[in-house]
Amino acid sequence: MNKATYTVEVPPDRVKLVEELSSRAPLKLMIVGDTDSGKTTLATFLANELISLGHSVAIVDADVGQKGILPPATISLAFPEEPFESFAELTGVAHYFIGTVSPSQFAGEMAVGVKRLTDMALREADVVIIDTTGFVSGIGAEMKRLKAELVRPDVMVLLERRNELGGLAKSLSKYGEVIRLGVSELARVHSREERREVRFSKWRAYFKGASPIEVNLGEIQVTGTSLFSGRPLTVEEKALLEELFKWVILAGWKGNRYTVVKADVEAVPHHYSRALQAVDFDRLSNLLVGFIDGDGLCPSLGVLKWVNFTAGTAQVLTPLDSLNGIEELRFGRMRVLETGEELGLLRREEL
Ligand SMILES: Nc1ncnc2c1ncn2[C@@H]1O[C@H](COP(=O)(O)OP(=O)(O)O)[C@@H](O)[C@H]1O
Ligand SMILES: [Mg+2]
Repeated sequence: MNKATYTVEVPPDRVKLVEELSSRAPLKLMIVGDTDSGKTTLATFLANELISLGHSVAIVDADVGQKGILPPATISLAFPEEPFESFAELTGVAHYFIGTVSPSQFAGEMAVGVKRLTDMALREADVVIIDTTGFVSGIGAEMKRLKAELVRPDVMVLLERRNELGGLAKSLSKYGEVIRLGVSELARVHSREERREVRFSKWRAYFKGASPIEVNLGEIQVTGTSLFSGRPLTVEEKALLEELFKWVILAGWKGNRYTVVKADVEAVPHHYSRALQAVDFDRLSNLLVGFIDGDGLCPSLGVLKWVNFTAGTAQVLTPLDSLNGIEELRFGRMRVLETGEELGLLRREEL
């Protein structure tokens, strides 16, 4: 299932844009606009037209909430060599792990991911098209500015309905040329439910044929979380915390503060200080994780099924068939099933 497809029924301003971009290549183009404003449709149109004109085109798909290129919750780079109908046909050659479909707490990762993949893209393509999230107000606008400030797109196309992106246009224009276009009359708004359905089918397609793999946490570093860092708790510390809070502590570490993975024995309201972070064991089940290679890129996602703290192993469901070259297991901030069902988002500080 895909929202955006190739269309040649376009207003004259789009045709003019193709001519302009073609004459200015090599260049980086970032497309910005609200959800369902037609960003991906425009990116698909431009890519196809530019390929037909003989340009080598790269797509950076950074719309983590509604990606066309698999897998979800990452930023992906693809090099379409021939005209294509939708992003779903493209195979990503590199991915940057974000770990959630809702990146408001991940501005740093989003900006760095787009920058890294754009740099990679420029080595091979003369037009790089960056598709972005529909997050354009509040923190979303700040995120767009951070991206623009880092990536320095030559052109930023803003798609707007009623000049609502004036403020954003002003802030982005410091970093590259801003072109403001109207949203197509054919653009169709999708409900939250429809967008969830699209993601559902993407997760499902990605994890189809995945199998469990055992990860030795002594060999592969766990990152993206404050768990697993510091020294292990002593027997006395563990006993004290269990007694104090009526917990079963499965694992714990002492770094700048205490961090524990626990299960409640009694449901008591807890008031613990900043010196202690406690994570419920069940928050880790079906957590989205990324396998990270030596370049900091993410060749594959996984779903964390079980952690054996005593043995120092984790069982992860993944389409990856070998851990060769994998250096990190990075924790994401959402729980999802391989069947496509999203179980919920976690806040950054929860892990
Ligand atoms: N120019 C267009 N012609 C036909 N349909 C369009 C056009 N622009 C957008 N749409 C439709 O509107 C919906 C939203 O467009 P999409 O490109 O997915 O938006 P975005 O990427 O900004 O979320 C899609 O169903 C798409 O097919
Ligand atoms: Mg889109």
